Amino acid sequence: MNTTTIETKTALDGAVNPDVREAPLSSAQITDYDHRQTVGRITADNPKMACREVNVYYSEKHALRQVSLDIGANEVIAFIGPSGCGKSTFLRCLNRMNDTIVSCRITGHIQLDQDNIYDKSIDVVQLRARVGMVFQKPNPFPKSIYENVAYGPRIHGMINGKAELDELVYASLERAGLIKEVEKRMDEPGTSLSGGQQQRLCIARAIAVNPEVILMDEPCSALDPIATAKIEELIDELRENYTIVIVTHSMQQAARVSQRTAYFHLGDLIEVGETDQIFTNPRHKLTEDYITGRFG
Ligand SMILES: Nc1ncnc2c1ncn2[C@@H]1O[C@H](COP(=O)(O)OP(=O)(O)O)[C@@H](O)[C@H]1O
Ligand SMILES: [Mg+2]
Repeated sequence: MNTTTIETKTALDGAVNPDVREAPLSSAQITDYDHRQTVGRITADNPKMACREVNVYYSEKHALRQVSLDIGANEVIAFIGPSGCGKSTFLRCLNRMNDTIVSCRITGHIQLDQDNIYDKSIDVVQLRARVGMVFQKPNPFPKSIYENVAYGPRIHGMINGKAELDELVYASLERAGLIKEVEKRMDEPGTSLSGGQQQRLCIARAIAVNPEVILMDEPCSALDPIATAKIEELIDELRENYTIVIVTHSMQQAARVSQRTAYFHLGDLIEVGETDQIFTNPRHKLTEDYITGRFG
C-alpha cells in the first residue's frame, strides 16, 4: 500500500482559520485517525484548491475525517462512494456552503489559489461567485430565463448597462449549451424548461458570475439519459475554462467525465488517483469492493 506524502507548502503554513475551534475528540476518535491515511497521490501538479486535514462535525457526529486533497486547475475530479460517506459534506466545504448549517463545524485548511477561504477577511458571497455550485435538483429562480442568468452579475455589480448584461447573459447561455433552445423565449419562466434544460440554465447562472471552480452535486441524478449525456458533454467542454468537482453516484459517469477520482467511505477519503487507475486497478480493498459492486 502506498503512503501519501502531504506536501507542505509554505503558503499553507499559518493558514489555519482562527475562527475554527479545535474539536474536542474522544480518545476513540484520536486512535481512529492515527491509522487513517489516504491511498494515492492527494496533490495536484497545478492545484486550484488545496485542502488539508479537513474535519467536519454535525453536532457530535464526525462526518468527515482528516481529508487532505488538492483540486487541480482545469481538471474534472469526481467524488464517489456509498451514500452518507461525506461527498456532499466535503463539496460544501469548498465554498463554505456548510456555513449555513447551524450544527456544522469545520476544522482544517482550505485554500483557493493563495487564499484561505475560512479566513476572516473572506467575503463569502464573493467566494461563492468564485466557487459556484450546481445542485442535484435543478433549482431555477422563479424568474424568467433571462433573469435567472442576469441576477448574479447584477447583484455583484459586474456590468454596466443593458447591452453589456445582454451580452453576458447570451454568452453564459451559449457556454452552457442552451442558447439555441432558449433565445426565442428569454422572457418565459426558467421553470417552464425541461429538467435537463433547467440544469443547463443553472449551469449558465453559475457561469455568469465568472467562477473559477464549479461544484456539482449529483447534477444528473434527476435527469433522463439524453439530458444526462448533454450535461456530461458540457462538463467536458467547461473544463477548458473552469475547474470542476462533481459528486456522482454513477461510476460510469465518473469514468466518462473525470480525470481524477476520489473514493470516500464513512467519512474517510480512502483513495484518490487517476480515474482510469481507480476503476481498473484500485489499490485499496474498500475501493475495489465499491467499484466491483460488493459495497454500496
Ligand atoms: N445537515 C446535516 N445535519 C446532520 N447530519 C448531516 C447533515 N448533512 C449530512 N449529515 C450526515 O453526514 C454524513 C455525510 O452526509 P453527506 O455528506 O450528505 O453524504 P453523501 O453526500 O456522501 O451521501 C451522513 O451521515 C449524514 O447523515
Ligand atoms: Mg450527497
